[in-house]
Amino acid sequence: MRASKEILANEIGVVFRSTGSSQLAGAQADVEVDPQLVSCEGTIEGGVFRFKAAHFEWLLQIAYKLGLGFNDVGKRWHGTDATLFFCDELKRLYGNEDYLISQAASYAVENWAAAGFWDELVEGFTKYNKRTRVDLPLAFFTWHSRLEAQHAQHTQEELEELYFGRELDEEAFVSDGNEMLNGVATFWDGLEDQRKHLAAA
Ligand SMILES: [Fe+2]
Repeated sequence: MRASKEILANEIGVVFRSTGSSQLAGAQADVEVDPQLVSCEGTIEGGVFRFKAAHFEWLLQIAYKLGLGFNDVGKRWHGTDATLFFCDELKRLYGNEDYLISQAASYAVENWAAAGFWDELVEGFTKYNKRTRVDLPLAFFTWHSRLEAQHAQHTQEELEELYFGRELDEEAFVSDGNEMLNGVATFWDGLEDQRKHLAAA
Protein backbone atom coordinates (compact mmCIF):
# COMPACT_ATOMS: atom_id res chain seq x y z
CA MET A 1 0.00 0.00 0.00
CA ARG A 2 2.74 2.45 0.95
CA ALA A 3 4.89 1.59 -2.05
CA SER A 4 1.92 2.46 -4.27
CA LYS A 5 1.27 5.68 -2.36
CA GLU A 6 4.91 6.71 -2.89
CA ILE A 7 4.23 6.64 -6.62
CA LEU A 8 0.75 8.18 -6.56
CA ALA A 9 1.57 11.08 -4.26
CA ASN A 10 4.78 11.81 -6.15
CA GLU A 11 2.83 11.79 -9.41
CA ILE A 12 0.42 14.41 -8.05
CA GLY A 13 3.22 16.68 -6.81
CA VAL A 14 4.71 15.53 -3.50
CA VAL A 15 8.44 15.83 -4.03
CA PHE A 16 10.63 12.92 -2.94
CA ARG A 17 12.65 13.73 0.12
CA SER A 18 15.99 12.00 0.26
CA THR A 19 16.05 9.77 3.31
CA GLY A 20 19.67 10.56 4.14
CA SER A 21 19.70 14.35 4.28
CA SER A 22 17.58 16.75 6.28
CA GLN A 23 16.24 18.78 3.39
CA LEU A 24 14.46 21.87 4.68
CA ALA A 25 10.83 22.05 3.63
CA GLY A 26 10.19 24.92 1.27
CA ALA A 27 13.79 26.09 1.19
CA GLN A 28 14.45 24.83 -2.32
CA ALA A 29 11.41 25.85 -4.32
CA ASP A 30 13.08 25.75 -7.74
CA VAL A 31 14.82 22.48 -7.10
CA GLU A 32 11.50 20.99 -6.09
CA VAL A 33 9.43 21.94 -9.12
CA ASP A 34 11.92 21.92 -11.99
CA PRO A 35 11.80 18.38 -13.38
CA GLN A 36 15.40 18.76 -14.46
CA LEU A 37 16.45 19.18 -10.85
CA VAL A 38 13.74 17.44 -8.84
CA SER A 39 14.77 14.26 -7.09
CA CYS A 40 13.68 10.90 -8.50
CA GLU A 41 14.53 8.98 -5.36
CA GLY A 42 13.64 9.20 -1.70
CA THR A 43 10.26 9.16 -0.01
CA ILE A 44 7.05 11.22 0.02
CA GLU A 45 7.07 10.88 3.83
CA GLY A 46 7.62 14.44 5.02
CA GLY A 47 7.97 15.61 1.41
CA VAL A 48 6.55 18.93 0.26
CA PHE A 49 3.59 19.17 -2.10
CA ARG A 50 3.97 21.58 -4.99
CA PHE A 51 1.41 22.03 -7.76
CA LYS A 52 4.20 22.54 -10.27
CA ALA A 53 5.88 19.28 -9.30
CA ALA A 54 2.88 17.26 -10.58
CA HIS A 55 3.82 15.18 -13.58
CA PHE A 56 0.65 16.20 -15.39
CA GLU A 57 1.70 19.85 -15.08
CA TRP A 58 5.04 18.96 -16.70
CA LEU A 59 3.09 17.39 -19.58
CA LEU A 60 0.92 20.51 -19.79
CA GLN A 61 4.03 22.60 -20.34
CA ILE A 62 4.69 20.53 -23.46
CA ALA A 63 1.06 20.87 -24.57
CA TYR A 64 1.15 24.69 -24.20
CA LYS A 65 4.20 24.81 -26.49
CA LEU A 66 2.14 22.96 -29.11
CA GLY A 67 -0.76 25.37 -28.80
CA LEU A 68 -2.91 23.00 -26.73
CA GLY A 69 -4.64 23.97 -23.50
CA PHE A 70 -5.76 22.13 -20.38
CA ASN A 71 -9.02 21.00 -21.97
CA ASP A 72 -7.25 19.66 -25.05
CA VAL A 73 -5.34 16.92 -23.24
CA GLY A 74 -5.77 14.17 -20.70
CA LYS A 75 -9.48 13.41 -21.09
CA ARG A 76 -10.79 9.97 -21.86
CA TRP A 77 -12.67 11.17 -24.92
CA HIS A 78 -9.36 12.26 -26.48
CA GLY A 79 -8.20 8.66 -26.53
CA THR A 80 -8.17 6.54 -29.69
CA ASP A 81 -9.59 3.01 -29.49
CA ALA A 82 -6.06 1.59 -29.21
CA THR A 83 -5.12 3.95 -26.37
CA LEU A 84 -8.35 3.28 -24.50
CA PHE A 85 -7.82 -0.46 -24.85
CA PHE A 86 -4.43 -0.01 -23.14
CA CYS A 87 -5.98 2.15 -20.38
CA ASP A 88 -8.73 -0.38 -19.76
CA GLU A 89 -6.26 -3.28 -19.69
CA LEU A 90 -4.20 -1.38 -17.12
CA LYS A 91 -7.29 -1.00 -14.99
CA ARG A 92 -8.29 -4.64 -15.45
CA LEU A 93 -4.85 -6.24 -14.93
CA TYR A 94 -2.46 -3.77 -13.26
CA GLY A 95 -5.26 -2.69 -10.94
CA ASN A 96 -6.70 -6.16 -10.42
CA GLU A 97 -8.06 -7.08 -7.00
CA ASP A 98 -6.10 -10.34 -7.21
CA TYR A 99 -2.63 -9.36 -5.98
CA LEU A 100 -0.88 -11.98 -8.14
CA ILE A 101 -2.55 -10.71 -11.32
CA SER A 102 -1.58 -7.13 -10.52
CA GLN A 103 1.98 -8.24 -9.72
CA ALA A 104 2.28 -10.15 -12.99
CA ALA A 105 1.07 -7.07 -14.88
CA SER A 106 3.40 -4.85 -12.88
CA TYR A 107 6.41 -7.10 -13.53
CA ALA A 108 5.66 -7.13 -17.26
CA VAL A 109 5.15 -3.37 -17.53
CA GLU A 110 8.13 -2.44 -15.35
CA ASN A 111 10.47 -4.67 -17.33
CA TRP A 112 9.20 -3.28 -20.59
CA ALA A 113 9.55 0.28 -19.27
CA ALA A 114 13.09 -0.41 -18.07
CA ALA A 115 14.12 -1.62 -21.53
CA GLY A 116 14.74 1.93 -22.68
CA PHE A 117 11.55 3.38 -24.15
CA TRP A 118 11.95 6.66 -22.25
CA ASP A 119 15.39 7.14 -23.83
CA GLU A 120 13.93 6.45 -27.27
CA LEU A 121 11.26 9.12 -26.65
CA VAL A 122 13.93 11.61 -25.56
CA GLU A 123 15.95 10.84 -28.70
CA GLY A 124 12.91 11.29 -30.93
CA PHE A 125 11.79 14.53 -29.27
CA THR A 126 15.33 15.89 -29.43
CA LYS A 127 15.31 15.34 -33.19
CA TYR A 128 11.85 16.92 -33.39
CA ASN A 129 13.05 19.97 -31.47
CA LYS A 130 16.06 20.35 -33.73
CA ARG A 131 13.99 20.03 -36.89
CA THR A 132 11.09 22.27 -35.90
CA ARG A 133 12.83 24.57 -33.42
CA VAL A 134 9.73 24.30 -31.22
CA ASP A 135 11.95 23.62 -28.22
CA LEU A 136 9.58 21.36 -26.29
CA PRO A 137 10.62 21.01 -22.63
CA LEU A 138 11.76 17.39 -22.36
CA ALA A 139 12.30 17.16 -18.63
CA PHE A 140 9.13 15.09 -18.16
CA PHE A 141 10.76 12.40 -20.25
CA THR A 142 14.31 12.72 -18.94
CA TRP A 143 13.02 12.61 -15.34
CA HIS A 144 11.16 9.34 -15.98
CA SER A 145 14.18 7.94 -17.76
CA ARG A 146 16.27 8.62 -14.63
CA LEU A 147 13.57 7.08 -12.45
CA GLU A 148 13.29 3.97 -14.60
CA ALA A 149 17.00 3.27 -14.34
CA GLN A 150 16.50 2.60 -10.63
CA HIS A 151 13.24 0.69 -11.07
CA ALA A 152 15.01 -1.84 -13.24
CA GLN A 153 17.04 -3.03 -10.27
CA HIS A 154 14.01 -3.29 -8.00
CA THR A 155 11.74 -5.37 -10.23
CA GLN A 156 13.96 -8.45 -10.05
CA GLU A 157 14.14 -8.25 -6.25
CA GLU A 158 10.36 -7.85 -6.05
CA LEU A 159 9.87 -10.92 -8.20
CA GLU A 160 12.20 -12.94 -5.97
CA GLU A 161 10.34 -11.81 -2.90
CA LEU A 162 7.04 -12.78 -4.48
CA TYR A 163 8.27 -16.10 -5.83
CA PHE A 164 9.77 -17.33 -2.58
CA GLY A 165 7.19 -15.62 -0.40
CA ARG A 166 4.01 -17.35 -1.51
CA GLU A 167 2.41 -20.02 -3.64
CA LEU A 168 2.56 -18.85 -7.23
CA ASP A 169 0.94 -20.28 -10.37
CA GLU A 170 3.76 -19.80 -12.89
CA GLU A 171 1.59 -20.42 -15.96
CA ALA A 172 -0.96 -17.85 -14.82
CA PHE A 173 1.79 -15.34 -13.95
CA VAL A 174 3.28 -15.57 -17.43
CA SER A 175 -0.06 -15.44 -19.22
CA ASP A 176 -1.31 -12.47 -17.14
CA GLY A 177 1.96 -10.67 -17.85
CA ASN A 178 1.63 -11.36 -21.55
CA GLU A 179 -1.95 -10.08 -21.57
CA MET A 180 -0.71 -6.83 -20.08
CA LEU A 181 2.06 -6.59 -22.69
CA ASN A 182 -0.54 -7.07 -25.42
CA GLY A 183 -2.22 -3.95 -24.06
CA VAL A 184 1.08 -2.07 -24.22
CA ALA A 185 1.69 -3.29 -27.80
CA THR A 186 -1.81 -2.24 -28.87
CA PHE A 187 -1.10 1.30 -27.68
CA TRP A 188 2.21 1.62 -29.56
CA ASP A 189 0.83 -0.06 -32.69
CA GLY A 190 -2.04 2.44 -32.56
CA LEU A 191 0.41 5.33 -32.46
CA GLU A 192 2.37 3.85 -35.35
CA ASP A 193 -0.84 3.48 -37.41
CA GLN A 194 -1.68 7.12 -36.70
CA ARG A 195 1.81 8.16 -37.73
CA LYS A 196 1.59 6.28 -41.01
CA HIS A 197 -1.86 7.72 -41.66
CA LEU A 198 -0.63 11.27 -41.05
CA ALA A 199 2.51 10.73 -43.13
CA ALA A 200 0.40 9.52 -46.07
CA ALA A 201 -2.03 12.44 -45.87
FE1 LIG B 1 5.08 10.04 -13.78
